[in-house]
Amino acid sequence: MKFFIDTANLDQIKEAQALGVLDGVTTNPSLMAKEGITGKDNILKHYVHICNIVEGDVSAEVVATDLEGMIREGEELADLHEQIVVKIPMIKDGVKALKYFSDKGIRTNCTLVFSPGQALLAAKAGATYVSPFLGRLDDISTDGLNLISEIRLIYDNYDFETQILAASIRHTMHVIDCAKIGADVMTGPLSSIEGLLKHPLTDIGLAKFLEDYKKGNP
Ligand code: E4P
Repeated sequence: MKFFIDTANLDQIKEAQALGVLDGVTTNPSLMAKEGITGKDNILKHYVHICNIVEGDVSAEVVATDLEGMIREGEELADLHEQIVVKIPMIKDGVKALKYFSDKGIRTNCTLVFSPGQALLAAKAGATYVSPFLGRLDDISTDGLNLISEIRLIYDNYDFETQILAASIRHTMHVIDCAKIGADVMTGPLSSIEGLLKHPLTDIGLAKFLEDYKKGNP
């Protein structure tokens, strides 16, 4: 399972990269705005900064909603750096854009996916990644994990190569559950990754080992 961090915060990206288990980064316009990154030039430069920190894929989202605009923006984003994956919303022109980029060998991440039918379309259009939003479904009392299981089944039935990128991960249990049902990738906050290493018995056990060592080696 690949681990992506879902942020545009450079310090958090550096921290996750330093842990040695990071495979990529996802961003979206809200995450960029949260970091105060505004204006086209600054936004493009920020993507390059991120690419220079991580070794893996970096999803950069288009803001156009028409086919021509998405193609123009997506090509500009893809030209920025070889690690860039163009993030395209699941709308009608988005499906056409996924197919266009797929035919050109430009990698894509189809975002804002909330149903198995949308995921099937994204795969048919040749998306590299499909991003079902787990947390946002859970927020409205709908089983987000079930959506990921359904997409897994559909993709496996037909050997689609599109990777399931479980997005909108909120906590550590989301990561574990996605791993159990075979999501290819998860993207979440740094806390959802670091939370995996915590266990009170580890801390208690380590304290005891060190205490016993000190007794024998005063
Ligand atoms: C996906 O790539 C999105 O950036 C993200 O996971 C959305 O998460 P949120 O629902 O926590 O905003």
